[in-house]
Amino acid sequence: MTTDTTSAPGQRSQPARPEHEALASRVTEIARRFDTRIQTANLPVHRASTVLFDTLDDAAVTSAATIAGERHASTYGTAGTPTTFALMDALAEIEGRGHACRAAVMPSGLSAIATAFFAYLKAGDHVLMSDSVYGPARTFAQGILTRFGVETTFYDPALGAGIAALMRPNTRVVYLESPGSYTFEVQDVPAICAAARSHGAISMIDNAWASPVFSRPFDWGVDVSLLPLTKYWSGHADVLMGAAVVREELWKPLWVAVRQSGICVGGDDAFLILRGLRTIDVRMRRHQDSALDVARWLARRPEVARVLHPALESDPGHALWRRDFTGSSGLFSFELRRDVLLAPAPGEAALTSGAAEHADARIARKLAALSERRRFFRIGYSWGGYESLIMPAKISALRTVNPWPGGPLVRLHIGLEDSADLIGDLEAGFAAMHAAG
Ligand SMILES: Cc1ncc(COP(=O)(O)O)c(C=O)c1O
Repeated sequence: MTTDTTSAPGQRSQPARPEHEALASRVTEIARRFDTRIQTANLPVHRASTVLFDTLDDAAVTSAATIAGERHASTYGTAGTPTTFALMDALAEIEGRGHACRAAVMPSGLSAIATAFFAYLKAGDHVLMSDSVYGPARTFAQGILTRFGVETTFYDPALGAGIAALMRPNTRVVYLESPGSYTFEVQDVPAICAAARSHGAISMIDNAWASPVFSRPFDWGVDVSLLPLTKYWSGHADVLMGAAVVREELWKPLWVAVRQSGICVGGDDAFLILRGLRTIDVRMRRHQDSALDVARWLARRPEVARVLHPALESDPGHALWRRDFTGSSGLFSFELRRDVLLAPAPGEAALTSGAAEHADARIARKLAALSERRRFFRIGYSWGGYESLIMPAKISALRTVNPWPGGPLVRLHIGLEDSADLIGDLEAGFAAMHAAG
């Protein structure tokens, strides 16, 4: 005797099942194919390790296509699913606007940076890296790249076309970040990329700050754009992911590095990045406007020596920023006046000169009073979400070309809160700073 168990509306009709089949077998077979005419606004999430084939031929053909890195070919969840391919296509199209690009996704922004280096470098190569880069990129170059026989020279981010003088016969990669995510120097990216290209080197940029809303790195001549999707692409501080978007002709080595190292992301996380993408334009404009409100207010504060934000006319990178970007994001820093930080609290004795450790301790207490127990600003590193962050930055260890000449820096990420409330919060922070001993 047989029964037909799959006649519910929407379900694809299934062959009749023999009654004697055990439940253990049936639960592995039912509800795996669902034919539906219902259209939802979003793609379904595919979670997959196993990819199935109807024939051995199909498996062999797909395997060859996957190894070759053909679009949407996958023999295995690590190679891709409809959800991750949808994200890869979206990244290539949006980051690469107007250029033939491909994108691969990785489990974090830092792993995207590492994978891109693995893709294009070999022992004996030389890298030129901006002195203003994200700290862990510097650590990776000084650590793993050194161990694998790749030498890195750091360059002054203000160098521009002058970078040609630092090129060596074995310089394979020029690595940029513009603006730098602690000190916000804007680089002459087109000039640096042109110099790299005429030397036969690849230019790679960490394009975290401006998002695709305000930057078009492939128009600048960049070859590889590295994206911490964790930041604005996600926008909600709840996903870790990265991507490398590359010119089509650089795709093969990237895909080989991705496949040989087992780098991949899950469908749920890919879905969340696609969801963030729907609102990135509107979010970025709000981050930009509120950050400018706060930056302009800070620039008028007596405690502040200067605000490091390239969209401010006073910023040394302003002209380059105007030329290359169409807007600015929520991330910037400000430098505090050392004399203000060293001032005694009411009723406290002045510091005697020469007591450096006392001065450092007082600065640390003042920075803590400014940053801790704020209403909206929380202390945290991973920016780009909906929420505002504050973090005093210790950058002296991050500079090797030009030691940092300025005073204590504080980095802010301006979230989606109302800027007047954020200014009120910082005002309370400054009052706490003055009161702290
Ligand atoms: C400029 C920049 N690049 C890359 C990264 C790395 O991103 P992830 O946290 O996803 O590894 C960060 C993270 O803070 C960053 O600020």
